Amino acid sequence: MKDASPQTIYLKDYTPFGWQVADVHLTVALAPNATRVKSRIHFVPNPNAPEQEFFLHGEELKLIRAAIDGEEVAPEITPQGLRCKVPSGPFLWESEVEIAPAENFALEGLYMSNGMYCTQCEAEGFRKITYYPDRPDVMATFTVRIEGDEAVKLSNGNPTDSGEGWAEWHDPWPKPAYLFALVAGDLVNHPGEFTTRSGKTVELNIWVRPGDEDKCAFGMEALKASMKWDEEVYGREYDLDIFNIVAVDDFNMGAMENKGLNIFNSSCVLASPETSTDANFERIEAIIAHEYFHNWTGNRITCRDWFQLCLKEGLTVFRDSQFTSDMRSAEVKRISDVIDLRARQFPEDQGPLSHPVRPESFQEINNFYTATVYEKGAEVIGMLKRLVGDEDYAKALDLYFERHDGDAATIEDWLTVFEDATGRDLAQFKRWYSQSGTPHLSVTEDYADGVYTLTFKQHTPPTPGQSEKAPQVLPIAVGLLNPNGDEVVPTTVLEMTEAEQSFSFDGLSSKPVPSILRGFSAPVVLERETAPEEKRFLLAHDTDAFNRWEASRDLARACLYAMITEGAGPDTAWIDALEQVVRDADLDPAFRALMLSLPTQSELAQMLHARGVTPDPDAIYAATEALKNAMAERWSALLPALREESAVTAAYSPGAEQSGKRALGNAVLALQTRLDGGKAAQAQYDAADNMTMQLSALSCLISAGAEETALAAFEAQWKDDRLVMDKWFALQVAATAPENAATRASALTERADFDWKNPNRFRAVMGSLAMNHAGFHAKDGSGYKLLADWLIKLDEKNPQTAARMCSVFQTWKRYDTQRQALMQAELERIAAKPGLSRDVTEMVTRLLS
Ligand code: PHE
Ligand code: ZN
Repeated sequence: MKDASPQTIYLKDYTPFGWQVADVHLTVALAPNATRVKSRIHFVPNPNAPEQEFFLHGEELKLIRAAIDGEEVAPEITPQGLRCKVPSGPFLWESEVEIAPAENFALEGLYMSNGMYCTQCEAEGFRKITYYPDRPDVMATFTVRIEGDEAVKLSNGNPTDSGEGWAEWHDPWPKPAYLFALVAGDLVNHPGEFTTRSGKTVELNIWVRPGDEDKCAFGMEALKASMKWDEEVYGREYDLDIFNIVAVDDFNMGAMENKGLNIFNSSCVLASPETSTDANFERIEAIIAHEYFHNWTGNRITCRDWFQLCLKEGLTVFRDSQFTSDMRSAEVKRISDVIDLRARQFPEDQGPLSHPVRPESFQEINNFYTATVYEKGAEVIGMLKRLVGDEDYAKALDLYFERHDGDAATIEDWLTVFEDATGRDLAQFKRWYSQSGTPHLSVTEDYADGVYTLTFKQHTPPTPGQSEKAPQVLPIAVGLLNPNGDEVVPTTVLEMTEAEQSFSFDGLSSKPVPSILRGFSAPVVLERETAPEEKRFLLAHDTDAFNRWEASRDLARACLYAMITEGAGPDTAWIDALEQVVRDADLDPAFRALMLSLPTQSELAQMLHARGVTPDPDAIYAATEALKNAMAERWSALLPALREESAVTAAYSPGAEQSGKRALGNAVLALQTRLDGGKAAQAQYDAADNMTMQLSALSCLISAGAEETALAAFEAQWKDDRLVMDKWFALQVAATAPENAATRASALTERADFDWKNPNRFRAVMGSLAMNHAGFHAKDGSGYKLLADWLIKLDEKNPQTAARMCSVFQTWKRYDTQRQALMQAELERIAAKPGLSRDVTEMVTRLLS
């Protein structure tokens, strides 16, 4: 068992480890219940560290033998590791431990998934494999010998030798233990090859279970595209002879960037048109790129300690979104990223789990792989790039790689590189890393004598542990249009540094219409009361795609707000203005599809709460439904034409062009279903020859309550495909009417194929329940109770996934007192569970505080 007594770790307490590791030799003799791990490690005193006792991390290990310079020793064993007396100079440490991968359901360390061995070491999983200074600033070269009967045995680096029942690997690049990986199983590979720009040939493989070979081609192409892109855009070449990717079914996260041996949740790499949606393809492409890009931003330059997690994650997310923008549409990607940020990061930053992009303390680091560290971390880099400009950004990145290659670096190092490369002072900008919460930005305007002035005010509401906030540096991208719709001032970045600050534009012959925060140039809440006419004007004329979309979004928010709080009817002026954009065949269908999406119910709840109105999930649901019905009715003639226009006749391809059309067609189908009760959806279901069309038809049928036939047909067709069945589980809960959501989720958990120890299957049902806003928040508390029951149960096996899912309760204080009391009671019930993990304990404590 992990030690559950809460111990808080602070950034300010950082001290280097007392020794350096010259090299590591591991011999791993595999057996499901008794794997033996032998280590030989050369330790050398670290001249830059204070005196300390010798301590190695180790958890759930059975120590068989330990020796120093060949002499057996008897270390003191604690639940966290071991202490030992050691010589004052360099020495050789040897140990042998036994572990049981077949009993490891936490999916950290060495575990088994469908009979194959695999590892997950980030953040602190290596200590479940052997005794080691398991911290990212201890870097070493690894040589690994794997012994076992499995056909395929893989580790980091290059293969050096193998024979009957064994294989050896050597990784020449010093790395922290969290990047260690080992895989063994009867796997098959989809091979490929890439020639780097300096002419080196790299062998590529995607390893999968037999039967999945035909789902690797897309991932392989994405990998090659990523390798090429990183050479062209960041000048980064791959640095080993071989790059392996392995797909595993049981995985807590999306994927892991282990050096030369990336391990993927199979849902994030396996793809085929029949089994994967367009969204799956796009996500797979992005995650393959993300993990590959980590080879430089994360592996060659790693983090000094886990507080610096955003150093690798923020930057790598930023890089993968640049990649997606280049491969597909930059405008569509930006809008999608903002939708995602508002759905996942804003609630986190505005609730009890709020923390800085670089946290200053934690109990369990696994709880800090958050939307704030990843997505807000990426936003911060986007702002930095906007402030310094593309050229200086490129210069700074070159310097970063040159100066810090091989280092375990910090955010200070990162910012110093930018200061040195650009001559800027980034002291104030650094607040983005230390101050939590989402800044609110308000603006007023003034026009006199040809001078137009915008006055901005910023303030950030208090967050846990931070009551006082200082002004942040906000890059505010602004453009000005004149009343006939021409752009008179193109996008200009205003650099706001004060709490209140004005910016003037002169030489304007008439009062312009401002387009503020173009491209969502800073992750803030923009508060601006403007007349609906002005929003409709921007919806029609803005040259900035993001703000065009945002103008419509603002109108939708205002309309829904009035419907919810005043019982107003749908805003037909907005619906008509939107129609002009949606029917504009010159616009990218993917963009038009995004224009059709409404703010999520959770986002509306947050908006109401921010305006002092207690959100009623049932009323929010009802208003959203009424608005969609009104859109469908008003566009009844337009919808069939739009579907026709977006029909794809060519053979399936997951690229931007076809997927944009399908996105538009399916957004339209959802509206059509409101008029025909599912007739068109059933026809699409019957004719579908790819998962995108099949699944969106099924989703419409579920929303219409007409799914019985299709649901059974889908199950019969796909019952043997785990990843497709995850979609079947998820959709029934996510798309059903709120009053059925909890019952349905509960019924699904009774099925024999509800393999709840598999994180994908667990999330399919429980994650979808949380996504069904009014269903999860059912007044009787049934949604809350079901989730809490299952979190308690999952925690015994897999604390990391259970803890991550606790965040579904992060908005609990927004709601009415009855719902609050129900949620609080469930959180307290979880907290009171004897033997609760450190992971979940920390989460519920923060949620309740
Ligand atoms: N480092 C991984 C990624 O972002 C995420 C991850 C974290 C995976 C912890 C597993 C465990 O790319
Ligand atoms: Zn990452």
